[in-house]
Amino acid sequence: MTAEIRTDLSDGVLTVTISRPDKKNALTNDMYGALADAVAKANDDEIRVVLIQADGDSFTSGNDLAEFAAQGSGNGPKERHVVRFLRELATATKPIIAAVQGKAVGVGTTMLLHCDYVLLAEDAQLITPFVNLALVPEAASSYLLPLRIGHVRAFEMFALGEPVTADAAVAWGIANKTTGAAELRAEARRVAAKFAAKPIGSLTAMKRLMRDAERLVTQMESESTIFVERLASAEAKEAFMAFAQKRQPDFTKIRRQ
Ligand code: COA
Repeated sequence: MTAEIRTDLSDGVLTVTISRPDKKNALTNDMYGALADAVAKANDDEIRVVLIQADGDSFTSGNDLAEFAAQGSGNGPKERHVVRFLRELATATKPIIAAVQGKAVGVGTTMLLHCDYVLLAEDAQLITPFVNLALVPEAASSYLLPLRIGHVRAFEMFALGEPVTADAAVAWGIANKTTGAAELRAEARRVAAKFAAKPIGSLTAMKRLMRDAERLVTQMESESTIFVERLASAEAKEAFMAFAQKRQPDFTKIRRQ
């Protein structure tokens, strides 16, 4: 349990709120654990739709980088709850809606590829800086993103880690539509209510047909093996140290991995 993930159930909609705004909603292992529990709870009959949203000016700045650094030095948690969270997302049967404002970094973007309706505030920016951190993409995004937006756009997003605007994300098919930041939550609730009124048996059967969950889990396992190796690399150590020291990383002196 952590206060940084809140859940609320009303009218069949489970709203999950990420709330660590002073750290731009960076996700810790405890937060991933609570997110995994929340998505798993959506299997309960009284839940018809899941809505993921976030407090503050950013959706999430992705994995907590201090925790990444600790994991890379062998001081990580016994269980990486991110693995459970992503598996729950990949195998979820109820519709998942995301309401995204500001920056959605790393898993903040890749989790959207598992959502069924993505609403972006006009200021939203999708950022996937995996290579900048000397890591590799996760959440089956190495498979899902090229599938969704094509190889060259996906390669650019992963390799350069530059922000993709909300309008581009809609044009490329990562999100459904944009809305004013002030209307984001109300609009997300309206969409959630529409889904909640649909026949749930039909919705879940349709979702199952549209997604090959087994394929996604297999991809996640392959990514995870390489990701964990990368976390311990000299390149990643330099990237995490640079973030902590508020400077740009210098990878040019690191020749071999
Ligand atoms: N992990 C840990 N702390 C983080 C964080 C992260 N992923 N992202 C932001 N924070 C912390 C900052 O260290 C800072 O803490 P401080 O106030 O104690 O110094 C605070 O959150 C605010 O962040 P700041 O960088 O000052 O905000 P910004 O608006 O200038 O930039 C970001 C926002 C998200 C662009 C920037 O923080 C960033 O690049 N974060 C890292 C993103 C990342 O690489 N995530 C991993 C993806 S795999």
